[in-house]
Amino acid sequence: MRNPPPQAVRLSEYRPTDFLIDTVDLDICLHRTQTRVVARLALRRNPKGRADVPLTLDGDGLVLRGLKLNGRAMDAGDYDATPDRLALHKAPDAPFTLEIETEIDPSANTQLTGLYRSGSAYCTQCEAEGFRRITYFLDRPDVLGVYTTRIEADKSEAPVLLSNGNPAQSGDLADGRHFAVWRDPFPKPSYLFALVGGDLGCIRRTFTTRSGRDVALAIYVEHGKEDRAHYAMDALARAMRWDEDTFGREYDLDVFNIVAVSDFNMGAMENKGLNIFNDKYVLASPQTATDSDYAGIEAVIAHEYFHNWTGNRITCRDWFQLCLKEGLTVFRDQEFSSDQRSRAVERIGDVRGLRLAQFPEDSGPLAHPVRPEVYNEINNFYTATVYEKGAELIRMLKTLIGDADFRRGMDLYFERFDGTAATVEDFLSCFADVSARDLTHFTLWYAQAGTPIVTAKSAYDENAKSFALTLSQHTPPTPGQSDKRPLLIPISLALFGENGERLDLASPDASASECARGLVELATASRTITFAGVASRPVASLLRGFSAPVRLEPAPLSDDLERLLAFDDDPFNRWQAAQSLALRSIFARVDSLRGSGAAPDDRAFFDALRRLVETGDDDPAFAAQTLALPSETDLAREVGQNVDPDILFCARNSLRRALGGALGDRLEAAHARLGDARPYSPDAASAGRRALRNASLDLVAAGDPAKGEALAKRQFDDATNMTDKLAALAVLALLGGDAREAAFTRFYEQFAGDALVIDKWFALQSTIPEEATTARVHRLMRRDDFSLLNPNRVRSVVGAFASANPTRFHALDGSGYTLLENIVLELDPKNPQLAARLLTALRSWRTLEARRRDLAEAALRRVLAAPNLSRDVNDIATRALA
Ligand code: PHE
Ligand code: ZN
Repeated sequence: MRNPPPQAVRLSEYRPTDFLIDTVDLDICLHRTQTRVVARLALRRNPKGRADVPLTLDGDGLVLRGLKLNGRAMDAGDYDATPDRLALHKAPDAPFTLEIETEIDPSANTQLTGLYRSGSAYCTQCEAEGFRRITYFLDRPDVLGVYTTRIEADKSEAPVLLSNGNPAQSGDLADGRHFAVWRDPFPKPSYLFALVGGDLGCIRRTFTTRSGRDVALAIYVEHGKEDRAHYAMDALARAMRWDEDTFGREYDLDVFNIVAVSDFNMGAMENKGLNIFNDKYVLASPQTATDSDYAGIEAVIAHEYFHNWTGNRITCRDWFQLCLKEGLTVFRDQEFSSDQRSRAVERIGDVRGLRLAQFPEDSGPLAHPVRPEVYNEINNFYTATVYEKGAELIRMLKTLIGDADFRRGMDLYFERFDGTAATVEDFLSCFADVSARDLTHFTLWYAQAGTPIVTAKSAYDENAKSFALTLSQHTPPTPGQSDKRPLLIPISLALFGENGERLDLASPDASASECARGLVELATASRTITFAGVASRPVASLLRGFSAPVRLEPAPLSDDLERLLAFDDDPFNRWQAAQSLALRSIFARVDSLRGSGAAPDDRAFFDALRRLVETGDDDPAFAAQTLALPSETDLAREVGQNVDPDILFCARNSLRRALGGALGDRLEAAHARLGDARPYSPDAASAGRRALRNASLDLVAAGDPAKGEALAKRQFDDATNMTDKLAALAVLALLGGDAREAAFTRFYEQFAGDALVIDKWFALQSTIPEEATTARVHRLMRRDDFSLLNPNRVRSVVGAFASANPTRFHALDGSGYTLLENIVLELDPKNPQLAARLLTALRSWRTLEARRRDLAEAALRRVLAAPNLSRDVNDIATRALA
């Protein structure tokens, strides 16, 4: 069957529902294959809706077993039920109740939305449109109801029964059955519904809110894994306190439950009072989790918790407003991590992530505004643009209006819109009101897709002692938006004098507040600011702290970069200077590999990095980030067109070798010096020392493979924590040979059965940049411990290969693309969301050089031509090719 053309949903066509559902009483009898759901819905006509229209409820794969209207069984002629829809031909004008009985099979649910089984537990995932796989409903976020949920199950199979809200009642029944009733007093949309049943272990703790209410916290995990949940619990309590201190937000229920499951499509889900997590973001022990795993747990625990106010108490009117909860909540979790760890290191990491994931999205065929205007499949819009660029927009807003007004605007938002389903306009109106600023121009950031390019030109006038800076902006066209308008771009800047001293800013072309704050607003296509009283040619530090999600061109002169690296008091731009110098060196090496141009002169750059290694112990995490060269993906993005991953790989390696060689003894000394005999602690300072130590090891091995192998082998054998062990294994993986294979074997033996660790074992092998890797990946996928039904495992093999092994994925024989194509098609009937996400690895196909471009396009076309595609994969393939 040919795939039907997608059915577009448009923001411009939003209208309120014709009915409201005030209360939802669910009675759910858990059974492995025949779960029974009785939903009693209190419906009434929406005064804002149309009169006289019939009622149509959403469904997805449902079997209707019974239907009562106001307590009386309905006649078959009065309604129409299909798996995807329940329509009442006539609905009463007065409020009425509808009692719907459906039957579902959680064991057959491989797509992991709705009610499914993970391991031996029952769990749900309803965002965005999963509730309609449990019962017929008005399954959209602007229908808010109060839920009561009764769950019944075999007590031996599911001693733990959880749902949203507070526990109301529980008890034993005949035949070894039992039940629990949960009541959630806060009106919520259906996507926040959740239920868990299973035989789970748990850890508990009490949190006292600042107004003195006790909240019972619990984290449920597989039996035997309780020990590994303590860091998550600690992070939760810290997040709860932080939201009180920073935003004045207190928790509102008597309990807060988290459940970790091993089969989950995303990171985690903020269901009211019952967050469900991918266990990757809960479970950690020093022996099994790396420092970045710990940081990820802290961030995701906080993110889901913060949704309680930004997402749950105030939810989204429609799915076009997704960034209203996601961008804002990412911003909040980034701020939390900055406060808990190092602000500079967090910012650099966040910007690296944005450039790695969001910039390519924004410059390719899948580009869309932070608030999209149309979608075919909403699940394909949980993107880096909505999340990470969405967070940047909040950050810019805060920068523009200042910290105090930002906080007042947030307070007003919570006050005005609590209990409602809001829009981006609602949100922005609060900030406009408190700051008395017209934010109309700023709103364009939500509607206009694409990454703006800001060009900076400067001229120093020796006689006038003035420095003229011209900033221009331009946004390339994106699908459906050919003409772009200038945005309001906050550009943070500083000027440095000859000796690295910061100059006072004074200019007739900028306001006093712009000069005082070092923050200029670029609101037009171009703006020139002439700074007066500049004694000698200054060095400009622009876009400090990455004050806007733009590309800044061109990079400053090498001399200036070296000076910024030495004395800029903005750590982000110090790091940026090192990145720009590395890019410059790598691209010079590309030219010289192609036979044009000489090898670059990196002496000054290397000297700066050498000083950093020698003196970096006071901020080792920052030093490690500065030593980390741009990734192959960074390089491809910077090149932008006719990308040849092989030559980028060679050029990058050539710099790695040169740098490792030039700094060898200092790196070795750092590696030795930073070793830690104390017991492992995941705190930011200890993690920073390990990061610098392992960055040093990696470069030692690049410069001197034999020495690197000896050091890595020893570290691999001696390591008592996963961070050091995995770093050593990664070095051995790159070096190859027997040492590598032996280490992989040992690692597997040591951690067999520990799925999250074995995921690392799979991922590391899939990213080896060698010709034999593609065959290795095929072998990995034939193993018994590989399964298409477990998203973490699929991502660790296929996701890692497609997104983190550019030379093999883009192999010139097309084998990498074929591998992805086959997996996507095999996975699609089982888990379309995951299949669609994997396929986005091909989105930048047009930036490749001609041969690869043709091969990638052909793979996408074959996917699109396959029969019975899911809406998810159909949508990605269609848009990628458009
Ligand atoms: N809302 C979740 C979050 O960002 C993400 C998610 C979306 C999870 C859809 C599952 C399904 O916190
Ligand atoms: Zn979120």
